[in-house]
Amino acid sequence: MCGIFAYLNYNVNKERRYILQVLFNGLRRLEYRGYDSAGIAIDSSSENPPSSSPSCPNNSVISPPPLVFRREGNIETLVKSVYQEVAETDLNLEESFSVHAGIAHTRWATHGEPAPRNSHPQSSDDGNEFLVVHNGVITNYEVLKETLVRHRFTFESETDTEVIPKLAKFVFDKANEEGDQTVTFCQVVLEVMRHLEGAYALIFKSRHYPNELIACKRGSPLLLGVKIVLTREQKAKAQGMLPEKCDKDDNREMNPDFRYWPHQGEELDPTKGQINQKELMEGDCNGSAFHDDKFLLKNGHPKELFLSSDANAVVEHTKRVLVIEDGEVVHLKDGEATILKFDNDKGKHGGSLSRPASVQRALSILEMEVEQINKGNYEHYMQKEIHEQPESLKTTMRGRLIRGGSCKAKTVLLGGLKDHLKTIRRSRRIVFIGCGTSYNAALAARPILEELSGIPVTMEIASDLLDRQGPIYREDTAVFVSQSGETADTLLALEYALDNGALCVGITNTVGSAIARHTHCGVHINAGCEIGVASTKAYTSQIVVMAMLALAIGGDTISNQARREAIIDGLFDLPNKVREVLKLDQEMKDLASLLIAEQSLLVFGRGYNYATSLEGALKVKEVALMHSEGILAGEMKHGPLALVDETLPIVVIATRDTCFSKQQSVIQQLHARKGRLIVVCSKGDAAAVSSGGSCRVIEVPQVEDCLQPVVNIIPLQLLAYHLTVLRGFNVDQPRNLAKSVTTQ
Ligand code: AGP
Ligand code: GLU
Repeated sequence: MCGIFAYLNYNVNKERRYILQVLFNGLRRLEYRGYDSAGIAIDSSSENPPSSSPSCPNNSVISPPPLVFRREGNIETLVKSVYQEVAETDLNLEESFSVHAGIAHTRWATHGEPAPRNSHPQSSDDGNEFLVVHNGVITNYEVLKETLVRHRFTFESETDTEVIPKLAKFVFDKANEEGDQTVTFCQVVLEVMRHLEGAYALIFKSRHYPNELIACKRGSPLLLGVKIVLTREQKAKAQGMLPEKCDKDDNREMNPDFRYWPHQGEELDPTKGQINQKELMEGDCNGSAFHDDKFLLKNGHPKELFLSSDANAVVEHTKRVLVIEDGEVVHLKDGEATILKFDNDKGKHGGSLSRPASVQRALSILEMEVEQINKGNYEHYMQKEIHEQPESLKTTMRGRLIRGGSCKAKTVLLGGLKDHLKTIRRSRRIVFIGCGTSYNAALAARPILEELSGIPVTMEIASDLLDRQGPIYREDTAVFVSQSGETADTLLALEYALDNGALCVGITNTVGSAIARHTHCGVHINAGCEIGVASTKAYTSQIVVMAMLALAIGGDTISNQARREAIIDGLFDLPNKVREVLKLDQEMKDLASLLIAEQSLLVFGRGYNYATSLEGALKVKEVALMHSEGILAGEMKHGPLALVDETLPIVVIATRDTCFSKQQSVIQQLHARKGRLIVVCSKGDAAAVSSGGSCRVIEVPQVEDCLQPVVNIIPLQLLAYHLTVLRGFNVDQPRNLAKSVTTQ
């Protein structure tokens, strides 16, 4: 939840106007992570060296208080109010800074209602000596707060975050009082981290350390983007060196401390919207710049550095990023980025604050284009992402399906799994673990995995597994499904499964995410960036990846060859079928206009499409803010039937598969009670499903049964989208939600 962002320009002149624009744009890109309030902090003056301040215990130098702007509401509310305040106070937007460090935050409240006082940056004191932006939850904040109150700190907000800047000031003041006037920013932050429990990604800014920033994390995601600004001569020199330096195929060293799933040989077309799986030590091949692997340590070069919760806010500036690992502390100072590893066991050594050794890290290259995170000609991200599905599915399958030939069988190749398939086949059980839409996608894929692998497959909602501390064994294969790869519940369940010795497989859309890094192996779904809070294209790509997983685990026995080949043919043709079903757009809009004033919507499904009912209902409730429930049709007569009357709209999924006749009987029972039915059926079945009563029929193309959920969900995605727009709600930023749930 929430987006944090920082921009530091070093040895390159930037006007205040530009700095504000960069910070605001960063927040706009991260807004989907949280949007109830926002804030920024920038310097009040480019005048450094700083003046002295009486608030500093040892009377050492301290720069003027930064300007802090915090507002309730979305980013545009903040932007408007900042420019208004700038105009009222005659703040010079043309003032130029050769070095400047600005921080920004867009919030999804966990502690304290959305209000300016609870917005970030949170501050240490009236003079803003330490400022912090935070993503996550500090679980021991109450104890820390009590201690700080005893030391005469007064609190302004109800957030858990406020203890952090105050603790930093406490540590700084104490070190100075004890005569340690050389205490560094890093030492202060490391000492603060030692006291924090919970999940966080933090960026610190301080008047005591002007033009420096510190970022650190535990649990929540954070990355550093690096843009080297070259002079014309340097550019020319770099271009002269290009042939030698930019051979993309050379066998560069992989960064040893950053484990990705094995490079997927089948992914001939590199992942779009992701970080390249190769950790390149060097090489920007577009001719505009040349960097070497020691750039992080080099001093003096003009550069622009960015810290961000995710790559979306960085890609328009640079593609060179470093994904910060848990426990790392990144110190940006004098154009250098020093990375220290925080070790909780190392407290004080001989009375002074600890100084852990710095670690060497290499940059990754983002393979992501800015266009991917723009809406293009669409009005909303959700709409764009629904309509992108023929393409996103193609990208998901690209290089992974083998057509076979005269003497070769059709098959699938999942490079990230190939070394682990034997172990998976020997597992006693496969456990799918996820939340929300990702859980639903796994549920849709469960029957085909059971059928082709013959291994029992169980389902776990991540939070429930943790609540129960459900049994996970060494002989289990635990499959973690997550679009973002950062969902806190799923990550904690992963930790739990790793502790219990299970083989952990990840299925995620985000290369470099925590799930990709901490699982033993996995498959990227390659659906491209998904920005709409409601997951759409990731869902269909997840199902396709899990169908391919079933094919890969199932192997190619003669007995299931025909079935396997039919599924593979079905996969090849799936993007066309999805294109066809998207033509229902207007029909779903018409239906939405009939349902606009309803209070509730039920969705009945079974078999492969039980998941479709849950996912369809989830979409309707999360964006259209209408109560909706997905119900297993087999359970209808055990309770839900009591709700049926002439007014309550009910969607029944009744496409052709082995459950079709049972669904026909459900429809008859609903007709008998004069239910208000909307039936999703296979093309040509309209008469079969509407005999015995009236109903509205939505005909979809028929595909292989295990792929039918991919087709069937699309009318429901369209329905949820249009309902939301017609009801006047914000499709991309549904009330109270945020895209990636990094808190428990
Ligand atoms: C999807 O529409 C929801 N916003 C939500 O249920 C989401 O699927 C869930 O939070 C899991 O996210 P993940 O896939 O990133 O782990
Ligand atoms: N827990 C902090 C708060 O409520 C940060 C929430 C967030 O991640 O946005 O302010």
